[in-house]
Amino acid sequence: MDIEIIAPSHGVLWRSHIPEIVEQYKKWSANETEDIAVIVYDTMWNSTEKIAYAVQSAFEAKGIATKIRNLKTNHISDIMTDVVTAKYICVGSPTLNNNMLPTVAAFLTYLKGLAPKNRKGLAFGSYGWGGQSVGQVEDVLKNCGFDLFEQIKIEYIPDDSVLSDITNKLKGEITT
Ligand SMILES: Cc1cc2nc3c(=O)[nH]c(=O)nc-3n(C[C@H](O)[C@H](O)[C@H](O)COP(=O)(O)O)c2cc1C
Repeated sequence: MDIEIIAPSHGVLWRSHIPEIVEQYKKWSANETEDIAVIVYDTMWNSTEKIAYAVQSAFEAKGIATKIRNLKTNHISDIMTDVVTAKYICVGSPTLNNNMLPTVAAFLTYLKGLAPKNRKGLAFGSYGWGGQSVGQVEDVLKNCGFDLFEQIKIEYIPDDSVLSDITNKLKGEITT
């Protein structure tokens, strides 16, 4: 077909770049993934952020490119453009009042709606006592149909030895 305009019911119309857009849609709808890990997190006091960087080190040590995204400084729509093609989706949240952080819940709601296929997920986070957030994040990733790495749940602040244990253990779980 000689397409002049792409007009999806929910948004922006494309009057140019038609071949490129059709190519992108083909790729997205086929659920083709690339060897990329997206690491998405939010944090109150930076412990979950430390875990996020330890997770990043594990993927990089295995030669897998990473994109690390703090939900305070990245919009979920932008993160989703990384997620659509990433094979590994890692999501971190500390526990706040028996729950994951609202920003992480918003991201996961969006992710669940898009339901990308053929992914491997990882839930991680720091906690103080009950520590419910990591299990809650993991439940959503499981409901998305993702295969899962073993969850990473750390009490309060991870020190250097805990962080290097996280990296080494995860490295052993990543098979390329
Ligand atoms: C307002 C507030 C509420 C919290 N509620 C819980 C909770 O319900 N259960 C829990 O295990 N930890 C709770 N914590 C402890 C944090 O999860 C803990 O300090 C964690 O290390 C924070 O991780 P972060 O540095 O990534 O923010 C709470 C902390 C704050 C500040």
